[in-house]
Amino acid sequence: MELGLEGKIAMVTGAGSQVGFGRGIAMILARQGCDVIVNDVDEEGVKKTAADIVKLGRRSLAIVADVTKLAEVKDMVKKSLEKFGRIDILVNNAGRATKPTPFVDTPEENWEKVFNLNLYGVFYCTKAVLPQMLERKSGKIVNIASGAGISGMPRCVHYGASKAAIIAFTRGLAKEVIGSGINVNAVAPGVGDTKFLITGEFPEGEIDRAVATVPTRRSTTPDDVGNMVAYLASDLARQVVGQTYLVDGGHA
Ligand SMILES: NC(=O)c1ccc[n+]([C@@H]2O[C@H](COP(=O)([O-])OP(=O)(O)OC[C@H]3O[C@@H](n4cnc5c(N)ncnc54)[C@H](O)[C@@H]3O)[C@@H](O)[C@H]2O)c1
Repeated sequence: MELGLEGKIAMVTGAGSQVGFGRGIAMILARQGCDVIVNDVDEEGVKKTAADIVKLGRRSLAIVADVTKLAEVKDMVKKSLEKFGRIDILVNNAGRATKPTPFVDTPEENWEKVFNLNLYGVFYCTKAVLPQMLERKSGKIVNIASGAGISGMPRCVHYGASKAAIIAFTRGLAKEVIGSGINVNAVAPGVGDTKFLITGEFPEGEIDRAVATVPTRRSTTPDDVGNMVAYLASDLARQVVGQTYLVDGGHA
């Protein structure tokens, strides 16, 4: 099956972690023929991802920017448009949780951290990238939500709430812009063996305990997520609008 992504210009946020979903998404898009702008706050990581994309024979641009800061996001988009002239595909991947705690003990600042990145980061990047898509009447946006946004996440209630917001954001924006040639969908990964869980203040053994409850008995890999993103970023998904696809081994 040909996805027809050859020559497309993609931007993937949060693509610096070498074990993360963002890098996996960026590499799959590059293998499908996209040039890929990769973003992260982790300079070393994002440069490594960009170098690996170039090794695949595609162009890449590593941009260090904090997607929770509108000025940095605007600058990132400006630099990307200067180099590539357009952005065909935006993947809003950067996201985080905080240490799982009972709801009553979860400090307000953890709600702020999580909503700042998981919701405002997506809002800022989308707002900055969308105008040139509207002008060209063409574009794809894929948001990375989470199974937690569908099933809820005890002890990480704020995380599930932020991802549920992204699911509604995806559906609403999709209905608004599909008539202008822009398609918006989301992917909701299940438990992944990424830095998010390894260094994300999650307790020892959390991944193994979580994977034991997944019907496939395996974690969701960056390739699992990247394959779904590539499909949704292609014209093959033109009749799929505003949807959120679980890639979670049947967990939610
Ligand atoms: N790992 C899981 O179990 C899981 C499950 C469902 C959904 N997700 C979602 O998948 C996405 C990717 O997460 P991951 O698991 O690969 O985590 P990760 O921590 O491996 O990757 C996240 C990346 O985002 C970057 N980042 C953090 N703050 C940023 C900022 N302000 N601006 C730009 N980049 C920033 C980090 O440096 C990191 O490289 C997130 O949206 C996450 O919520 C993860």
